Amino acid sequence: MFNLILFGPPGSGKGTQSEKLIARYGLKHLSTGDLLRGEISQQTALGMEAKKIMDKGQLVPDEVVIGMISSALDNNPQAKGFLFDGFPRTDKQAEALDKLLDLKKNGIAVMLALEVSEEELVKRLVKRGETSGRSDDNNEAVIRARIAEYNSKTAAVADYYKRFDKVVLVKGEGGVENIFDRLCNEIEPRING
Ligand code: AP5
Repeated sequence: MFNLILFGPPGSGKGTQSEKLIARYGLKHLSTGDLLRGEISQQTALGMEAKKIMDKGQLVPDEVVIGMISSALDNNPQAKGFLFDGFPRTDKQAEALDKLLDLKKNGIAVMLALEVSEEELVKRLVKRGETSGRSDDNNEAVIRARIAEYNSKTAAVADYYKRFDKVVLVKGEGGVENIFDRLCNEIEPRING
C-alpha cells in the first residue's frame, strides 16, 4: 500500500493535482473538503454545522474530520493506497492518521508540500470564486482568513512529518503539467521502491 499526503495552503493546487495523480497511480482520493461539501449538499446535521465554520474560513473540529477519514479508510479495504488531500491539518489529525494507518499495518510514504506565494493563492481563489459557487471562495476576506488559518494551525503539520524525514517541498507555481511532472518525479522512486 502506498499512502501519500498532498499538502499545501488553500489554492495551492491540491485538488487539481490529486485528480491527475489518482488517475496515474490508481490511489483512492480522500479530500476532507470534498467530504464536508458532500455533507453540506445532502444537508446533513454535520454538514450544516460545518458550513457555518467553513464560511468563516476556519477549520472544522478535529473529531469531525478524523471520524470521516476513519470511516473512509474502513470503507475502502481494497484500496492500493490513499492520497490524502486537505488532511491532516493539525498535529492532532496527523497523530490520529498515524494511529489509524498503524492499525492497518501501514503508514505515510511521503508528504509532498506544494509551495505557492500568498499573492498567487489569492489570485487563483478570487478567480475561481467568480464561477465555483463555493461560498468560501467568493469573498477575499474569507480567502485571506483561510490562508491565515493555514499559517497558524496547519503549516506546522509539515514539521510533524519532517521528524520522520517524509517531507518533500515541490514548487507549486507554473503550468499544471509541469507541477504534475515534479510530483511524479518524487513519487516514482518511492512507489516502485
Ligand atoms: P478544502 O476543500 O480542503 O480547501 P482548501 O485547502 O482551502 O483548498 P482549495 O480546494 O481551495 O485549493 P486546492 O489546494 O485544492 O487548489 P485547487 O486545485 O482547488 O477545505 C475547505 C474548508 O473545509 C476548510 O477551510 C475547512 O473549513 C474545512 N476543512 C477541510 N479539511 C479540513 C480538515 N482536515 N480539518 C479541518 N477543517 C477542514 O486550485 C485552486 C484554483 O487554482 C482552481 O481554480 C485551479 O483551477 C487553479 N489552479 C490550480 N493549479 C494552478 C496552476 N498551476 N496555475 C494556475 N491556476 C491553478
